[in-house]
Amino acid sequence: MKKKVFITRRLPEEWIHSLRDEFEVDMYEQEEHPITRAELLSRVEGVHGILCLLTESMDSSVIEAAGDNLQVISNVAVGWDNIDISAATQKGIFVTNTPDVLTETTADLLFALLLATARRLPEAERYLRTGAWKSWSPLQLTGLDVYGKRLGIVGLGRIGAAVAKRAGGFSMDVVYSSRSVKGELERELGLCRVEFTELLQTSDFVVLTVPGTRDTAAMIGAGELALMKPTSILINGARGSVVDESALIDALKHRRIYAAGLDVFTHEPLSPRHPLCELDNVVLLPHIGSASVETRRRMAGRAIENLTAALRGEQPPHVVR
Ligand code: NAP
Ligand code: GLV
Repeated sequence: MKKKVFITRRLPEEWIHSLRDEFEVDMYEQEEHPITRAELLSRVEGVHGILCLLTESMDSSVIEAAGDNLQVISNVAVGWDNIDISAATQKGIFVTNTPDVLTETTADLLFALLLATARRLPEAERYLRTGAWKSWSPLQLTGLDVYGKRLGIVGLGRIGAAVAKRAGGFSMDVVYSSRSVKGELERELGLCRVEFTELLQTSDFVVLTVPGTRDTAAMIGAGELALMKPTSILINGARGSVVDESALIDALKHRRIYAAGLDVFTHEPLSPRHPLCELDNVVLLPHIGSASVETRRRMAGRAIENLTAALRGEQPPHVVR
């Protein structure tokens, strides 16, 4: 008898058809809208594997609802903050993610967000489209330079390092703070490790690329924002939980920092009525770091490899620890 797999969101058939040869696959029918909690709990019952997105909370009740067959939760994301790792590992369930395949695409987006925020691109486009552009003028839509500035990367992992590489093309001085020393990257890219406080005080751009964990929760709050320069820009490409959003809104409103570029939020999707949407010194993106067709396909492929290995009784290549 084939093992059962549940996919929590509709994915293109050509991405997942290989699973159908080996497993009995049930897939949620919708692509745009997430599955309701009640339907999720009922459809995971008795499955051996779950392929899920970061929008689905895989907590202990989902694990309970799936029952004793469950062997693997395969996330189509590198972040795993939607999954209760300890509840899964206590039951011997593998939790897997999709590192590497999205690194460059996400770094591209974070660098684009940095440029767009510094040079006020969305605001400039709105200005043109709404007919406000009457003449070229000397101070019109002036932003801040990027080249030659100091970039501070908080969490120099795969994505942080890929952002640092891009900064080389803009002659930026790159510093980082991370849990561990990255000697090879320091030598290869000329980076310098500094204390978190120094990074905040001296950087023109602070880019967050840490995972969303208990340790990183609200690591940027009122105190940290107060250390940043009034001309500095915060880019959050990590998770919304890493930034205290109320403190950030306050800092942006009172121009304690120059601007922010955000791809992630405390509550997603962000409502258009959210106070952040009332500010002109913030660029807001709907969590699209890895959103290229090629990368999303590669992420699904990696998640399928992980799931398939676990259900065959092998060690999945990308287990979250
Ligand atoms: P990674 O290679 O594991 O890098 C994470 C880095 O953060 C590591 O260097 C790690 O330090 C550091 N770190 C962890 N906890 C820390 C702490 N408490 N204080 C300081 N540094 C800490 O992961 P990645 O592939 O680069 O992905 C990073 C995160 O980006 C993901 O977890 C996800 O949340 C987010 N992400 C967002 C998008 C998007 O669409 N916006 C797309 C992909 C990923 P060590 O090296 O010492 O362990
Ligand atoms: C996206 O945010 C991811 O973690 O892959």
